[in-house]
Amino acid sequence: MENKKIILSGIQPSGAMTLGTYIGALRNWASLADEYDCYYMIVDMHAIVARQVPATLRKTPFEQLAQYIACGLDPEKNTLFIQSHVLAHAQLSWVLNCYTMFGELSRMTQFKDKSSRNEENINAGLFTYPVLQAADILLYNADLVPVGADQKQHVELTRDIAVRFNGIYGDVFKLPEPYIPKVGARIMDLQTPINKMSKSDIADGGCVLILDKPEDIMRSFKRAVTDSETSVRFDTENKPGISNLMQIYSVCTGKEFSTIESEFDGKGYGDFKKQVGEAVVELFRPIREESEKLLADKAYLESVFKAGAEKASYSANKTLRKVYKKIGFIEKPR
Ligand code: TYM
Repeated sequence: MENKKIILSGIQPSGAMTLGTYIGALRNWASLADEYDCYYMIVDMHAIVARQVPATLRKTPFEQLAQYIACGLDPEKNTLFIQSHVLAHAQLSWVLNCYTMFGELSRMTQFKDKSSRNEENINAGLFTYPVLQAADILLYNADLVPVGADQKQHVELTRDIAVRFNGIYGDVFKLPEPYIPKVGARIMDLQTPINKMSKSDIADGGCVLILDKPEDIMRSFKRAVTDSETSVRFDTENKPGISNLMQIYSVCTGKEFSTIESEFDGKGYGDFKKQVGEAVVELFRPIREESEKLLADKAYLESVFKAGAEKASYSANKTLRKVYKKIGFIEKPR
């Protein structure tokens, strides 16, 4: 275990998990457990940068954990935990705030995007959000961070913070690399395929959720926005809708784009959209069924959270102690 490389990633429990989250991140996690020491979080502290309904936030982490396990993350092989259960995340985050520049945070695309869409709640947490993410990653000395393309800039900032800190205090932090899938790093909204699919836009059917009913998934795909041509061809610039559907279909079936193009040569978009919908229904069916079973056993899910928090705290506290010592904090007398 000690010599394995370390993987860390997380997903916000700010809503149900989407097809985008699954393809960009979750799908790639399960296959890594044998080769790496893997830590996967439910990042509730990140979620509260936008207002959450407390009763929902009490429920969503259980649903998310059930889906993690149903997607193949074996709790015996992966450390699965809730971010707020490991105090070191908040503690290191404060320290790293003092080693992160205002200008760096102002350049984060996600901050610019989220603050422009949410003008009534541009809170300090939204601004320092990437520092908490850096703390998440650096606490575990993660080598690799499997995420979608939208998180690349945050992982790069994490490296910059680590380099700055190491430059002052010596080799404290390992420098992490983002691990981004070749196909599906940015799944687009089915209704507005120039925008990323996001759990905050579920109203118009452009966003598909892992736990959606088959008929709802089919309806979303049948209504997916395409273009005025008729050919199934990969061209993200001119055919964003079709290219997005091709990526989804490719991930579901393992088929190359060229194979998909010939498979649908001469057939209409209607046929293609239906096939993609069916492939997604079949992809999610076993996950939905298994999640439902797991959710019925809350005591088991709680035991996973407990064990995960204990294991994660052990590693995280080691790093935090080292950091406190380096910066000159006095250890609490025993
Ligand atoms: P979050 O919760 O927004 O998204 C979770 C993961 O899903 C990926 N993703 C997508 N990938 C492709 N297409 C999409 N449409 C799509 N939507 C979401 C995201 O890239 C991400 O990998 N800040 C992070 C959570 C986080 C984290 C961390 C990640 C907190 N601490 C430490 C890695 C390491 C976030 O908000 O992800």
